[in-house]
Amino acid sequence: MRIVQVVGARPNFMKIAPLRRAIDAAGFAEQKLVHTGQHYDAAMSDVFFADLDLPRPDAFLGIGSGSHAEQTAAVLLAMEKLLMSERPDLLVVAGDVNSTVAAALAAAKLGIPVAHVEAGLRSFDRAMPEEINRVLTDQIAELLFTPSQDGDRNLLREGVSRDRVHFVGNVMIDSLREHLPAARRAAAPAKLGLAPKGYALLTLHRPSNVDDPKALARVVGALAEVAAEVPVVFPIHPRTRKRLAEFSIATPPGLRLTEPLGYLEFLGLVDGAALVLTDSGGLQEETTALAVPCLTLRENTERPVTVEVGTNLLVGLDPRRIVDESRRVLRGQGKRGGLPELWDGHAAERMASAIAEWAQARKR
Ligand code: UD1
Repeated sequence: MRIVQVVGARPNFMKIAPLRRAIDAAGFAEQKLVHTGQHYDAAMSDVFFADLDLPRPDAFLGIGSGSHAEQTAAVLLAMEKLLMSERPDLLVVAGDVNSTVAAALAAAKLGIPVAHVEAGLRSFDRAMPEEINRVLTDQIAELLFTPSQDGDRNLLREGVSRDRVHFVGNVMIDSLREHLPAARRAAAPAKLGLAPKGYALLTLHRPSNVDDPKALARVVGALAEVAAEVPVVFPIHPRTRKRLAEFSIATPPGLRLTEPLGYLEFLGLVDGAALVLTDSGGLQEETTALAVPCLTLRENTERPVTVEVGTNLLVGLDPRRIVDESRRVLRGQGKRGGLPELWDGHAAERMASAIAEWAQARKR
């Protein structure tokens, strides 16, 4: 059996790496890795290949940045060409970025079955570009791997047939568990002069938060108050850096900006943080897995299990709430949580078994 896997942007790498290894270990398929190039900076891409032991991609499409239509269309064209010559038995895509939906669509139109890693998540907010990508990818995928059972429910409600849905657990947590010892050895907090549990960690990159000057200024104002109490480390996404400059918003002194960080360094910082403030999806999950209190600077989440079971609290963009809840966590009164079902480090093995069974059933 021949499988092509697609990665494009930063949050894809840690979802595909464990699956590649599990399929290699099971030995039932030949695998090829395609990088669309949606993310291309060394700090947004190359460092993850090194940290996660991903092999060099077999193909690099060099898509780069652009509007949604430009990026999606470029991946669609390049993937169609690639798939027409490769003709794999299965295309694997992950997550909800533009590369995900575009690659899935190219394959589906060529009659090549698609597997979607991290299927079924819904924020129910169609203003979020990722929500469109999720809904469309799930409709055209044949194998849907869900990280939590809310995903199964969402898919069934949208008319996806039960036999296409596989609740396998969270593959990001496979990567986290595998690399946590190395991340701890890398000692990122100590290298930045930070005491264990003596700092907060911040990430911010959602267009709804950073592309609107008023919203961004309000959030930065709230963060200034938090940063007056505790150092706030802020590895800054290129989109956010651009917007701060464009809107002439100064960052407060307690905010410690760094370049985007690699997987191990960043994981070490999450693990050592007293508090995480974020609008990222993946980080809501990583904090739950590490039992670190997380305040999500959004009105909704496609990962409700991190709120229901884990350490995540949605605080939205109200500056008062952000500051009050941060203080509560820093006083040691943050949310404690448990581990969601099947976030056990073995999601990739379950996906590999499901793919092998699916391939067997097709032969019959
Ligand atoms: C994308 C995903 C988002 C994901 C995020 C993680 C979509 C619709 N969005 O958002 O779901 O959470 O990645 O980072 O697919 N840039 C660089 N260097 C890079 C990549 C991007 O400087 O290597 C800059 C470019 O100026 C670009 C901007 O960042 O215009 C945004 O990049 P893009 O891939 O369009 O979206 P993200 O905001 O990264």
